[in-house]
Amino acid sequence: SNFAVAIDGPAASGKSTVARRLAERLGLIMINTGAMYRAIAWATIENEVDAADSAAVLAMLDKLEVTCGVKDGTSTILIDGTDPGDALREDAVNSRVSTVAAIPEVRHLLVEKQREYLKLGSLVMEGRDIGSVVFPDTPYKIYIDASEEVRLARRSAEGLTDVVSKRDEEDSKRKTSPLVVAEGATVIDSSEMDIDEVVEAALATLRT
Ligand code: CDP
Repeated sequence: SNFAVAIDGPAASGKSTVARRLAERLGLIMINTGAMYRAIAWATIENEVDAADSAAVLAMLDKLEVTCGVKDGTSTILIDGTDPGDALREDAVNSRVSTVAAIPEVRHLLVEKQREYLKLGSLVMEGRDIGSVVFPDTPYKIYIDASEEVRLARRSAEGLTDVVSKRDEEDSKRKTSPLVVAEGATVIDSSEMDIDEVVEAALATLRT
């Protein structure tokens, strides 16, 4: 039967790259859950909804169709049929995403969609609460960490500005599904490792 490899960690820890490479190596579907939260944040901008007004965000979601799929082995997300594309990485989304992600009903909606992906096949799923909430029973849990200094440097090397530290603080302090090291997860501190080393370390934890 299908299984999930859960990859969690703070912003810009390199978990997306590791998850993508692991999925390629193992022939699994790759699911980026951050993109789902980002798409909701993007929709609040498009619809001029205050991300901090949870009632308004939920009323907006009632009217929108959020469609999760897979293309070329990777998750896709459409909001009323539109793929937000590169807009998901913009500053306006970075500054709102942790706020919408703290709304319990938003998390509930997206967690259900995340669990449904398992029907399509075995997968690597990356996010903040995959090992703790989405798939707590999977034996394959990895937490990719890196020092704050390294994470800020990695994000600016991507040519992106990002409120990494602020998002981490909000993601760690929220009441519903905060960023934690899930029970049973193996922590890989990638601060002094290159991407190949992290991928090898992750593969090693899956083999044991
Ligand atoms: O790529 P990066 O690690 O910077 O962020 P991301 O994975 O795209 O996630 C963006 C934001 O979505 C996070 O800062 C969280 O607020 C939220 N998120 C979440 O709450 N739970 C998840 N499973 C994934 C993302």
